[in-house]
Amino acid sequence: MKPLKGLILSGGRGTRLRPLTHTSAKQLVPVANKPVLFYGLEALAAAGIEEVGIIVAPETAAEIREVAGDGSAQGVSITYIEQDAPLGLAHAVLTAEPYLGDSPFVMYLGDNLLREGITELVEAFRAEAPDALILLTKVPDPENYGVAELEDGRVARLVEKPPEPRTDLALVGVYMFTQSVFDAARAIRPSPRGELEITDAIQHLVDTGARVDPHLVSGWWKDTGQVQDMLDANALILDDLHTRVDGELVESRVEGRVVIERGARVERSYVRGPAVIGAGSTIEDAYVGPFTAIGEDVVIARAEIENSIVLPGSSIADLEGRIEASLIGRGVRVGRATGPPRAYRFVMGDSSEVTIL
Ligand code: DAU
Repeated sequence: MKPLKGLILSGGRGTRLRPLTHTSAKQLVPVANKPVLFYGLEALAAAGIEEVGIIVAPETAAEIREVAGDGSAQGVSITYIEQDAPLGLAHAVLTAEPYLGDSPFVMYLGDNLLREGITELVEAFRAEAPDALILLTKVPDPENYGVAELEDGRVARLVEKPPEPRTDLALVGVYMFTQSVFDAARAIRPSPRGELEITDAIQHLVDTGARVDPHLVSGWWKDTGQVQDMLDANALILDDLHTRVDGELVESRVEGRVVIERGARVERSYVRGPAVIGAGSTIEDAYVGPFTAIGEDVVIARAEIENSIVLPGSSIADLEGRIEASLIGRGVRVGRATGPPRAYRFVMGDSSEVTIL
């Protein structure tokens, strides 16, 4: 088999993660202080894949290039491929055809996270050389995913987000293909949501007698398309943290697995892990509780927060209630009025969400 290439899909609109995705790509939202996209790049690199194409949307192309660069930090060589419009995963595959050529490839959805990585699955694909290999896992809400029906261990039917799923086996966002997928993607028509679905292209492979191997994923898997998924993924990654304190601790208590990055300062505060405090951040007279990722240059003063993600450059001060299950964007200010009028004052972007006590 020729060396495998990687294809990461980081286009799309990210509508379910607004307002963060008004200004930034959803694949760059940090999970445990690392952009989601990097987990995919690292998984491909770990599986021995050196050349990776990244599908980007015109609106977020520059930002993704800036963050991921040439890929050398992850041990891969990146080629950026612009997809004019988010017309579906199979459309993205066709957009990448000139780059992929006749190399077999691993397609990795840029907002997916798999705990166990993909190394063994890539090895199985290399060794068994099917036309395609798909990953499946049992989920409680299959109607939100591509759903598979197996017969005698073989793939019989795949349906994209069926309102009444016939099984609870969801398609995980990692697929391995040979060039047969291009003809399949050309043969299908747009779905009711107006996209060329990769699920339909794989069904076409099955219907035309191609060999599509299913593999069940046992470790956790997350599609980080929505806020709660982001928080869940953050918690799962933080759960594997190893304690490291490179920043400064002053009259503070740190308990459990906690990372405090260089240049961060924790003063008269209580940090209960698993939690990470980014470089240059200040935590003052505050409580940072389990499953919280505080980005770089953040200030948390006289406030309490847990089970949340705070992006770089934000500040949260003087709150009476504890912040929980929140995703806070870049450069956000949350504070208390110092004088009259005693009123709530909000400057929020489109699709923001605020819940108050
Ligand atoms: O996460 C697994 C699920 O991913 C599968 O179970 C579904 O079968 C599959 O269709 C897909 O469903 P989603 O609706 O979650 O896909 P989403 O629109 O979120 O796109 C997945 C990634 O691909 C995301 O990083 C954005 C990117 N993308 C999406 C489209 C539609 C592109 O790069 N180009 C596109 O045209």
